[in-house]
Amino acid sequence: MSNWVESHFGLSGKKVLVTGSSKGIGAAIAIAMAEAGAEVVLQGRSSQSLAATKSAIEAISAHPVSEVICDVSSASEITAAFADISTLAIDVLVNNAGSISRAPAADTLYEDWSRIIDTNLNSIFQISQACGRAMLERGSGRIINIASLLSFQGGINVPAYTASKHAVAGLTKALANEWGARGVNVNAIAPGYIATDNTAALRADQDRNASILARIPIGRWGAPEDISAVAVFLASAAAGYINGEILTVDGGWMGR
Ligand SMILES: NC(=O)c1ccc[n+]([C@@H]2O[C@H](COP(=O)([O-])OP(=O)(O)OC[C@H]3O[C@@H](n4cnc5c(N)ncnc54)[C@H](OP(=O)(O)O)[C@@H]3O)[C@@H](O)[C@H]2O)c1
Repeated sequence: MSNWVESHFGLSGKKVLVTGSSKGIGAAIAIAMAEAGAEVVLQGRSSQSLAATKSAIEAISAHPVSEVICDVSSASEITAAFADISTLAIDVLVNNAGSISRAPAADTLYEDWSRIIDTNLNSIFQISQACGRAMLERGSGRIINIASLLSFQGGINVPAYTASKHAVAGLTKALANEWGARGVNVNAIAPGYIATDNTAALRADQDRNASILARIPIGRWGAPEDISAVAVFLASAAAGYINGEILTVDGGWMGR
């Protein structure tokens, strides 16, 4: 790697925390950050669930891999797990953990609505505050939120998910406005349709799968690696003047 590429895109000397890094997009982001030279802190509901990502990183990185264990739908678990996060000196926080509940609005149970809002939105505020305070004190940091095309569109039978992801876009801009001048850039990636457990039900439905594919100009589902490389870019020095951006990575879906 040339010095120019390393200084603009490399992440040596950076510590990156990725929430929901057990599988899917979060696992791919954690591994890509390690590939770019960062020390990675994983986050998940159990050490067992993080084992595969941890071994994949240990195979490519000499840095230790640490873990923060909590269920991000629980405010009290987040408070306890992130109580001394400032001691870890996180440079880059990726708020990726997220969940979906599929049911028409009229049939959605309030507890399902609440769990999705807690998991996808409230956790991002709480974890960004915990990591962000230390970043503000140091005068540098990056926060990357994983939004969605449903940060812009209404979606079908996913009212809580859509509401949470619209709010993630708003929170990204609110934090970017407050923290940009203090050295902390806050951006989001809005992935298109990516083949993970989150979208397994859509791919299993032949009609839905065909209609989704027909609308994606690139003509294929995205892979977690389509998102992870963009996360590395947003974490890098090259993205230093990007702030408050919701970057769609969707094979062209939103341009259609
Ligand atoms: N796939 C897509 O097409 C797509 C599109 C737009 C946005 N996104 C967003 O991308 C992010 C990652 O989704 P994915 O597609 O990679 O889905 P995934 O394969 O289902 O992974 C979701 C991750 O979030 C974690 N998680 C969920 N609920 C949690 C909780 N209460 N506490 C702690 N961790 C929790 C999961 O951990 P466990 O292993 O413990 O379940 C897992 O690591 C989400 O924010 C999702 O909304 C995905």
